[in-house]
Amino acid sequence: MQSFSALSKALYQQALRGSARVPWARVLWRATPPACARGLQAAPLPARHVAAAAAAAANSTTQQQARSASYMPFMEDITYLTQEQAQSLDAELMGPLGFSVDQLMELAGLSVACAAATEYPTSTHPRVLVVAGPGNNGGDGLVAARHLHHFGYSVSICYPKPTDKPLYTGLITQCRSLGIPFLSAEELQAGGPLSSRFDAALDAMFGFSFKGAPRPPFDGIIEMMKPGAQPPPVVAVDIPSGWDVEHGDTSGAGLRPDMLVSLTAPKLCARQFAGQHHYLGGRFVPPQIRDKYQLRLPAYPGVSQCVRIGGSGRSPAAGPANVADLRVSYGGAGQSLDEADMSEAGPLAEFDAWFKLAASSGLAEPNAMCLATASPSGAPSARYVLLKGYDERGFVWFTNFDSTKGKQLEENPFASLAFWWEPLQRQVRIEGIVEKLPDEESDAYFYSRPRGHQIGSLVSMQSTPLRRGRAELEERAARLEAQYADESIPVPRPPHWGGFLLRPLCIEFWQGRPSRLHDRLRYVRPSVDAQEWRLERLSP
Ligand SMILES: Cc1cc2nc3c(=O)[nH]c(=O)nc-3n(C[C@H](O)[C@H](O)[C@H](O)COP(=O)(O)O)c2cc1C
Repeated sequence: MQSFSALSKALYQQALRGSARVPWARVLWRATPPACARGLQAAPLPARHVAAAAAAAANSTTQQQARSASYMPFMEDITYLTQEQAQSLDAELMGPLGFSVDQLMELAGLSVACAAATEYPTSTHPRVLVVAGPGNNGGDGLVAARHLHHFGYSVSICYPKPTDKPLYTGLITQCRSLGIPFLSAEELQAGGPLSSRFDAALDAMFGFSFKGAPRPPFDGIIEMMKPGAQPPPVVAVDIPSGWDVEHGDTSGAGLRPDMLVSLTAPKLCARQFAGQHHYLGGRFVPPQIRDKYQLRLPAYPGVSQCVRIGGSGRSPAAGPANVADLRVSYGGAGQSLDEADMSEAGPLAEFDAWFKLAASSGLAEPNAMCLATASPSGAPSARYVLLKGYDERGFVWFTNFDSTKGKQLEENPFASLAFWWEPLQRQVRIEGIVEKLPDEESDAYFYSRPRGHQIGSLVSMQSTPLRRGRAELEERAARLEAQYADESIPVPRPPHWGGFLLRPLCIEFWQGRPSRLHDRLRYVRPSVDAQEWRLERLSP
């Protein structure tokens, strides 16, 4: 059997032989500034990628989440309603079945308050914000606010577009009479991060009849409640605001609530809910409705107004109950990867489309990639680095050449990169040969960095032991910061710091599919300068 290092040496020599022949990639790199210098720009995405993103989001429910409480049914066993079904069911309740809108609202709001109080008790989450929209969902929120007040919470309401109907004016009067303050949208938005003022927030802005994109001031309030703004836990009433009732957060602009309280029955979008707590409320469904709509819903325990039906059930800090049970179901309609769909311009163009989609999927660092290198004897070593550019030549990152990875690449220039873009259920794997970037390109990137980062490159002798502990690092940082305190003195790029370029020999595109029957399409070429790529499908 050929040893790894003998094999890699043979491959390397073969690849280099090829690379000496056709230096086209270098020419292209010079013709256009490297992406790392240009910055990665967002561009319109091909429709099929948008469909893939929506489909991925639609199927991100974890079976692990569904099992986390013993009485909880499997998500698959529960009925999810379309928008039309939800509307006709409501009409039937308020028609032949004799309910009034006030009654349904009262019961819905009560179950929301009960569910929220179950997960976010007054002892830990005393200050609650309720944001109410102009429709019935907002009414549910006002009722919930009143109940939460009676449960002992300090409640504030933001109701920017009040509805001038007796039902709603009555709810406002009830809340005001309890001393619940009403904040205007301006006051809410001017008051700094929500987490500094509230311990939980109720999203009762838009319900199952809502269509289109949220308008001001709701769009701004939604921004304050999105994960990027680090809000307190968000509890969505029936539909997370900004979501399509059937397809979920298709625009990517919707909320990512920690808790969802579905009312009467979950709507189709609830399949995508990936937060901690999913409850069902609205304990009023009569048998006629249950039978007509063939509703499969769990029984409410005892006298409870709500029942848990999903969610991970744990705080992120608590960690998983059982690691082996952490299991995500991948894939869904529209999420396939077909040979015919791959870019005619080749794998780098395909990567470009995938990367842009990943960059728009809400990931904080879509450019984080696992870089695997190996010692000359083949001992592997992996770590994350940040992709800082890519173009026809390959993939660029910056590091310390004297680090472990730097030394390994010096001696064994084969490396492998892997990206995992969880919201898209997509992985990209790249293998190839690594070389140092030309000095002028490393300089260009070095001087595009904040001055503090430039000094940081001088400070850290990456991967070497700090024999005197962190103090040694901090003393060195202080010394160099003093040395370069005068900003007119440029910080020299240290010779041991710069960019690496991986020139790919193979690039694999992986799309998660149901039952672990994933799609894998791999492009391979015999040398790093060969222009032709062979596309093959691999078993998952
Ligand atoms: C998300 C993430 C991004 C990182 N990006 C870089 C990077 O771009 N360059 C780098 O040298 N180290 C980066 N690091 C640190 C490396 O993972 C690693 O600790 C360091 O490079 C030393 O690795 P080595 O000893 O294997 O050479 C990053 C770490 C994380 C978690």
